[in-house]
Amino acid sequence: MDTFISKLKDHVWDTVTIKGWAYNVRSSGSIAFLQLRDGSGFAQAVVAKQNVDEASWSAATDTTIESSVIVTGTVTKHPKQEGVFELQATAVALVQKAEDYPIGKKEHGPDFLLDNRHLWLRAPSQWAVQRVRDAIIHATYDWMRDHGFIKIDAPILTPTSCEDTTQLFETDYFGERKAYLTQSGQLYLEAAIASVGRCFDFGPVFRAEKSKTRRHLTEFWMMDAEAAFVEHDENLRIQEELVAFIVKHVLETRQEELKILERDTEPLKKVVAPFHRLTHAEAIVKLRELGSDIGDMDDLGADDETLLTKQYDRPLFIEKYPAAVKAFYMKRDPEDSSRVLCADLLAPEGYGEIIGGSQREDDYETLLARLREHNLSEDAFKWYLDLRRYGSVPHSGFGYGLERLVAWICGLHHVRETIPFPRLMNRLDP
Ligand code: 4AD
Ligand code: MG
Repeated sequence: MDTFISKLKDHVWDTVTIKGWAYNVRSSGSIAFLQLRDGSGFAQAVVAKQNVDEASWSAATDTTIESSVIVTGTVTKHPKQEGVFELQATAVALVQKAEDYPIGKKEHGPDFLLDNRHLWLRAPSQWAVQRVRDAIIHATYDWMRDHGFIKIDAPILTPTSCEDTTQLFETDYFGERKAYLTQSGQLYLEAAIASVGRCFDFGPVFRAEKSKTRRHLTEFWMMDAEAAFVEHDENLRIQEELVAFIVKHVLETRQEELKILERDTEPLKKVVAPFHRLTHAEAIVKLRELGSDIGDMDDLGADDETLLTKQYDRPLFIEKYPAAVKAFYMKRDPEDSSRVLCADLLAPEGYGEIIGGSQREDDYETLLARLREHNLSEDAFKWYLDLRRYGSVPHSGFGYGLERLVAWICGLHHVRETIPFPRLMNRLDP
């Protein structure tokens, strides 16, 4: 009977067949050990010469690291390790013999591993990261659906910019008109809420970032959410509940993976709503106490975020940034018109920004003035202005960067390991 390694616990003493790869091999005399990986998990097959026919024995001894194999055997409990199962092999077949697998057991530098990303993805650590990523995606869809958000797919080719215009990827396919790869689906979701009320998108976005930091990719995955009749405070409550749910779901379903990644799960267990909140003005005071020389109306840099989040055990919202450092569409704070009703959510343990969000400007004249202040084309944004002419409502939304969430939850230093095939300023391959 074919099965998967993750199901071996249900088949103790049965004879089963596993199809996969040998990620490690070892043999001595008349016994060979094949460390198998089949996508669902990892298990050892013990091949004793006396238990198999000649063809199987020669297949087992011929098996090299990363060869593909099919192994049949009896499932047994590991004599010492609780929850670990083995196969006592009765037959082994070599599907394809791998010669000289380039990734060895010795330490490799990040460039070598990234050049071999197509193979490095097979490493247990990378398997674990992708499975955590999948759990985050899954939890997001579940939570959003359970809270009345439906998925709306925003376009990737756009005639306008949503965020910083200096980070646009251009194409001239459309002749006279420049088209850009989207930076965020937000503006389109703002249109959709007048149809569906609450929605989200989830897809690749592009930023021609000229920064080579551990937090920046040029192509990454964003989940944008948008909701009608939701104002600033409720926007933050939605975010904290979503993030707490995601972390809980990962803790519940990805224990083995977090263990492989040697992630200390204690800090993750503390991620429960409500999260901490500081206004930007309060954050500046705090940062200065911590030794920073940040100015009153400055944006927070990565170092400031790291410094701040090390002070807190839960994620931290920084609200009401100066309007001058944020996007044109954010609504001004009625109590202080130099500031906007926005918040960045910073992940603890030094990780920094994982979400950017705000209440949106819903007044036609004010939005028009903002577009002009930002030198954005009124013509290209005519449709967006229309949303403020026909049944405008208070509304808010936010976007999370999937790779930043994965890096934080997995405890990884750099976002490049969190996406299957990273695109960075200096990396397009493989
Ligand atoms: O803060 P950002 O730029 O916000 C927006 O794009 C809004 N339109 C979202 C919205 O309100 N619907 O980006 C959102 C998140 C950031 O908090 C960060 O997690 C991630 O996207 N992000 C990046 N992740 C990896 N590499 C980059 N270059 C990123 N830039 C932003
Ligand atoms: Mg941001």
